[in-house]
Amino acid sequence: MKILIIGGGNMGLTYAQSFLRSHITSKEDMMILEKSPEKALQIAKKDIGTVYGDAKDCLGTADIIILAVKPQDSAALFASLAPFIDPQQVFLSIMAGVKTETIAQSLNATKVIRAMPNLPAQIGMGMTVFTSSEAVTRIELVMVQNLLSTTGKAIYVEQESAIDAATAISGSGPAYVWYFMDAMMEAARKMGFNVSEAELLVSQTFRGAIELYNKSDFSCEEWIQKVSSKGGTTEAAMRSYRANAVHEDIIAGAEAALQRAEELGKS
Ligand SMILES: NC(=O)c1ccc[n+]([C@@H]2O[C@H](COP(=O)([O-])OP(=O)(O)OC[C@H]3O[C@@H](n4cnc5c(N)ncnc54)[C@H](OP(=O)(O)O)[C@@H]3O)[C@@H](O)[C@H]2O)c1
Repeated sequence: MKILIIGGGNMGLTYAQSFLRSHITSKEDMMILEKSPEKALQIAKKDIGTVYGDAKDCLGTADIIILAVKPQDSAALFASLAPFIDPQQVFLSIMAGVKTETIAQSLNATKVIRAMPNLPAQIGMGMTVFTSSEAVTRIELVMVQNLLSTTGKAIYVEQESAIDAATAISGSGPAYVWYFMDAMMEAARKMGFNVSEAELLVSQTFRGAIELYNKSDFSCEEWIQKVSSKGGTTEAAMRSYRANAVHEDIIAGAEAALQRAEELGKS
């Protein structure tokens, strides 16, 4: 299976390196198309596959083509690819907001998969949600799921609208977590811990709480009840958060992200 990654930026290289690390493909079967000659030279030095600067030199031999350029570069990309496309080729796009139908029509392609990964994909801890056009076969979907799973977890959704929702939850989600972590680190510093102590206290608390949650059957609310003894410290904190509607604010933030994802998808 020959894989062509178009766009040798953050995500394109993350995929190339994850595929090789997991031995799902070899560098002989990996091609990278990068328009910037300087970046192409840098990528070639990494020895992770053959690097090209022109679509006509590599598109024809690819079975799966991964579109990893910025959404604003998609129209120019489609125009440069369209003349060389074989309808049996599978396109996997990770471009935020660019719809499956737009990709299929612009490329005159039938087999289009659209995925929304997130940043922790860079360390194999990503969350990807993907959907596909009807022409993609089950075998091709499994193949793509295996590729995406090299960067973390991947789930398939039937409805494309779920991709916008995934953008608002797992796509933008790492920033919400860092926002909460940052506030807790600031609180720790105000209470007298130095910067590195504050970072350790907070990051280890997040890691421990998530691991405990993953290893149990309790919901978040059940865990909160378990650790909030009557008249105790956790109860005092939770009372303050509830009075300030922090929970509702976090939901409103995610809803704002969903609204923005939908707007971007229309433009
Ligand atoms: N980063 C994330 O966490 C994340 C998460 C979810 C989805 N995504 C999506 O992933 C995509 C890539 O993001 P990124 O952060 O990897 O972007 P990036 O670092 O800017 O990489 C894109 C690369 O594609 C190159 N390029 C542009 N047009 C091209 C063309 N026609 N042919 C070949 N190469 C071309 C760019 O070159 P120039 O720099 O010379 O233009 C750049 O090197 C985006 O669509 C984004 O929405 C990213």
